[in-house]
Amino acid sequence: MDNRPIGFFDSGLGGLTTIPPLKNMLPNESIIYFGDTARTPYGSKAVSTIQNFALQISKFLVENNVKMIVIACNTVSATCLDLLRERFPEVEIVGIISPAASYIVKNCGMHDKIGVIGTKVTISSNTYKNMIQEQNSRIEVFEKACPAFVPLIEEGIIHNDIMDLTIEYYMDDFILENRINTLVLGCTHYPLLKSMIMRKYPNLNIVNPSEEVVFDIKRRLKKRNMLADKKEYEDIFYASDLSENFVNMIDIILEDSDVRKEFKSMEVE
Ligand code: DGL
Repeated sequence: MDNRPIGFFDSGLGGLTTIPPLKNMLPNESIIYFGDTARTPYGSKAVSTIQNFALQISKFLVENNVKMIVIACNTVSATCLDLLRERFPEVEIVGIISPAASYIVKNCGMHDKIGVIGTKVTISSNTYKNMIQEQNSRIEVFEKACPAFVPLIEEGIIHNDIMDLTIEYYMDDFILENRINTLVLGCTHYPLLKSMIMRKYPNLNIVNPSEEVVFDIKRRLKKRNMLADKKEYEDIFYASDLSENFVNMIDIILEDSDVRKEFKSMEVE
């Protein structure tokens, strides 16, 4: 048993979509969340820049005595997982891509057409495709970068016509031409678009890595006998720019305005 908090981080508010499933499944766990809102989006930046940011944030979380780090960001999981595991061997580090890839391998077959949408960096890394096809090369995977989604979501432009048009722009041809029947939301911001995507494409099966990762967190903590038996610490949500939108989104996504929100600047080395 270990009641210390779990550290989560993302480039901004997207990683918050992992928190409600975590709280449902593991209500005794405490959370420290870091959203790098001052430097979002990561998804079109150079890999070396993303690695530098991820190292700074992980160091901060380790200094805050977390028992595990969850990379609640596909872009960072695709580019920094091995590096972070190497630099911080004292803490278990969980990436968000592998649990969703395993879900696909378990639940899909050669008749399925899997579409993965994500940031430019995630898609150009081919991490989803490789992880799925290493386990079953007969599953067809198509990938599509949708770089305008994250800046719009960070601005709070979600349930309106601009987002509707952006979804159509990226996805209409992609889904039709490739006959996609299963769509992986390969960026933690995208679950915030789930209801809009489902309205437009009602026959798609949607895979949400923000939910799948929670099963992996539970499995790993259980295996090491580190599940919390009571909630001992207050949840804290840090942001490098505590913008109004970040604060609003915490309230909307967590349906709880009582959580502690703090500003923490991150120096660029
Ligand atoms: N939410 C992130 C992801 O899952 C990053 C988005 C970004 O900053 O571009 O990839």
